[in-house]
Amino acid sequence: MFRDTVGMFYLLPPRNTLVAAALSLVLSRLSSSSLSVPDVPHIATYFGTKTRYEEVNPHLLRDVLSVNKSVLKPPPTERCSPVHLTAVIRHGSRYPTVKNIRRIQKLSELVRREASRGSAGSWLQDIQSRWENWYTEDMDGQLVMKGRDDLRQLAQRLSALFPSLLSEENMRRISLRSSSKHRCVSSVEAFQDGLQQVWRRSEVQYRHQVDDELMRFFERCRGYVEGVEKNRTALLEVEKFKHGEEMEGVRRRMAERLGLPHQRLTPDLVEAAFFLCSYELSIKSVHSPWCFLFDENDAKVLEYKSDLKQYWKRSHGHVISSLSSCPLFHHVFRTLDRAGRPRRSTEASPEPASILVGHAETLLPLLSLLGLYKDETPPTSNNYHTQHGRSFRTSLIVPYAANLLFVLYDCQRGPRLQLLINESPVRFPGLEAEDAPLYRDVRATYRHLLDGCDFHSECEGRPGGRGPNTEL
Ligand SMILES: *[C@@H]1O[C@H](CO)[C@@H](O)[C@H](O)[C@H]1NC(C)=O
Ligand SMILES: *[C@@H]1O[C@H](CO)[C@@H](O)[C@H](O)[C@H]1NC(C)=O
Repeated sequence: MFRDTVGMFYLLPPRNTLVAAALSLVLSRLSSSSLSVPDVPHIATYFGTKTRYEEVNPHLLRDVLSVNKSVLKPPPTERCSPVHLTAVIRHGSRYPTVKNIRRIQKLSELVRREASRGSAGSWLQDIQSRWENWYTEDMDGQLVMKGRDDLRQLAQRLSALFPSLLSEENMRRISLRSSSKHRCVSSVEAFQDGLQQVWRRSEVQYRHQVDDELMRFFERCRGYVEGVEKNRTALLEVEKFKHGEEMEGVRRRMAERLGLPHQRLTPDLVEAAFFLCSYELSIKSVHSPWCFLFDENDAKVLEYKSDLKQYWKRSHGHVISSLSSCPLFHHVFRTLDRAGRPRRSTEASPEPASILVGHAETLLPLLSLLGLYKDETPPTSNNYHTQHGRSFRTSLIVPYAANLLFVLYDCQRGPRLQLLINESPVRFPGLEAEDAPLYRDVRATYRHLLDGCDFHSECEGRPGGRGPNTEL
């Protein structure tokens, strides 16, 4: 059930009106150099896990089905052909969850009642008289229309990139699994819609399996739940940053722009305004007047706050977070092992593709377990100014519809494996010399995990958590 027509809100009338209004908003604040992209907020690349996929791959704004085949990089001399694709995919754009809908409610009432129109730009007038709070609690995190498009179009691009794997003949041999959450199930359905459109089949049949053991491993790992999720001190860095100097600055500037006393805005309400800007872009493709509350430096601070949270909750901050993904890690490598094994001609051919749809919380631990995006210095509450060049930027890693692709090739020297993240090549840590190293070298690099990484001993192992070992 999608409610895209219900939320008649800020500037929905005909498109030229919308563009004109967006233009006037832009003009009221920015120089004319920004006119080339009037409807994308200047802070759109800093929304963390609420970033649109298009911000990571801007060429898709011109042609959403464009595919760059040169991202596939097996050695040209070895006559390689892809034999298997495993894709771990995050759901597409979604509505806010109840927690954020309530914050949006509070914020919009506060701004409507108390913000002063005095010196602010016309955007404040737009918030106060033209913008309507159209978010309702029943939307709670569900996939939006745009989110369905995200997955449908991703499926179409992947089938153009791997025509021999995601082919109609292979239809019944492609495995599809999803988290049980509504937004993920809707996403895996949309992915299948995309494939069936390519195959020009009118009768869409869904054949995915729901598998939370695989896609929501994090909530089943006791060591993780107790050591990190329910443990307030595990996210101390986030709490400290939330009330630290940089966030205070953002809060003060936002209060000034709204003509509100500083103490009326909590850090949560500041974040709610930032998220509002992100939601209106990702759900409606609209440049919301809320976006004008932040300049680029404010957005970088708020992005850092989200990155800190993800780092300490889902990534390298605590080893148990990545270890909780051991079941998914083993599943992926078992699938690759089977696909790469030499076969007698009488044997059935292996799965051409395995599509696994989950959450940012599914992808981040797995990426961390693989050793990716691990900077030398961990991000903390007091080193913001040295972290501008960090690789751990969730806006780039886990936007909506983020995807981690394992591409297995059959080559003259044996199977090779390539990694792509959000459709761009990424090299395996420790094997940086090649885009697609031999599969046996990848296995050797991860030997310690292939031989260990046991869910039960890592997650249930020592009661009371893993003590000091949980921290990096
Ligand atoms: C295509 O991908 C290759 C390899 O990642 C990259 O070097 C190139 O710039 C891309 N081309 C376009 C048009 O995006
Ligand atoms: C909670 O986190 C802190 C900091 O990471 C850690 O020292 C402590 O052992 C954790 N507590 C539990 C119960 O795991």
